[in-house]
Amino acid sequence: MNPHSVSVAQEPSSRIHFNEVVTRDGFQNESVFIETDDKVALIDALSACGYAKIEVTSFTSAKAIPMLRDAEAVMHRIRRVAGVEYSVLVPNVRGAERALECRPDELNLVMSCSESHNLANLRMARHQSLQTLLDVVRHVQQAKPLHPVAVNVSLSCVFGCPIEGAVPLSVVQQLVQTFVDAGVRGITLCDTTGMAHPAQVQQVCDWALQAHPQMQWTLHFHNTRGMGLANVLAAVQSGVRRFDGSLGGLGGCPYAPGATGNICSEDALHMLQAMGFDTGVSLPLLLPLARALPDLVGHALSGQVAKAGVTEDLHPMPCQP
Ligand code: COA
Ligand code: ZN
Repeated sequence: MNPHSVSVAQEPSSRIHFNEVVTRDGFQNESVFIETDDKVALIDALSACGYAKIEVTSFTSAKAIPMLRDAEAVMHRIRRVAGVEYSVLVPNVRGAERALECRPDELNLVMSCSESHNLANLRMARHQSLQTLLDVVRHVQQAKPLHPVAVNVSLSCVFGCPIEGAVPLSVVQQLVQTFVDAGVRGITLCDTTGMAHPAQVQQVCDWALQAHPQMQWTLHFHNTRGMGLANVLAAVQSGVRRFDGSLGGLGGCPYAPGATGNICSEDALHMLQAMGFDTGVSLPLLLPLARALPDLVGHALSGQVAKAGVTEDLHPMPCQP
């Protein structure tokens, strides 16, 4: 923690649970295949940084997301660290069956609040996705695998859709109620294409935490329009303590026009730590991984702290002539 910062966070609610999604949301949008060995090495290194959760991969169709066609191999080869949850994204029953073979700690089911985005991304109408995901929830509840698995649902386009525009809060509320009734452990509210603004985030988070205080709420922002960290701030001030982010700010939904990167994990963690929150994540361990990522993906990344260093990194006085 920065000793000079004014701490706005008080125990016990100062604990932030951060979910690193670079190898799923980050990699899925990259055009050049990243080798399985490189994925495993990055996940193993991330596991040592102190994340609460890592979204490792997705069990989707290899035709739809060729980058993640090695999901089984990656899940079997990573080294699990106690205290880190390993989550995988699943779009349908087939994906859930494949995923359960790999003993994830969590299945992250996905559907969109927008009919058009759901059709583009999942090639199903929303009511079909809903039925599919409820089938998966029942499947998991009945399967009672030896390795216990929790269910999270990520709702895309909660704050707006790049095809339809505004998404009424009532649509989100109805979907949330259905998944609450189905008994899922957590719900992630996703700003898939960076349309959310802080006042809207505050309104939605206030509603979510008040209406369903027992739910594990996570916020998932993209920085498409530069509002990512402002939205994290609005959410954390509203009481949210779980966030998704992607190393280097990599990411974006391949089926959302104009989508760009997730909020940058190390920038968000640096901000939250400076404010006095306990993220559990070691920036000295994480920043070298962020600095190595451009070489792995073959292009520059948007993260700021990896370039500037943390605020505690002081510089020598410039030499006077
Ligand atoms: N894992 C592996 N293969 C799958 C699969 C899964 N979970 N679900 C479907 N498939 C295969 C089918 O077997 C079929 O293969 P075939 O052509 O060799 O017979 C093919 O994919 C098409 O199956 P279908 O049931 O018609 O599905 P679809 O084409 O309507 O695709 C999805 C539905 C959801 C599986 C697909 O659109 C998808 O994976 N989308 C990716 C969504 C995503 O991850 N987006 C980014 C994150 S939000
Ligand atoms: Zn995303």
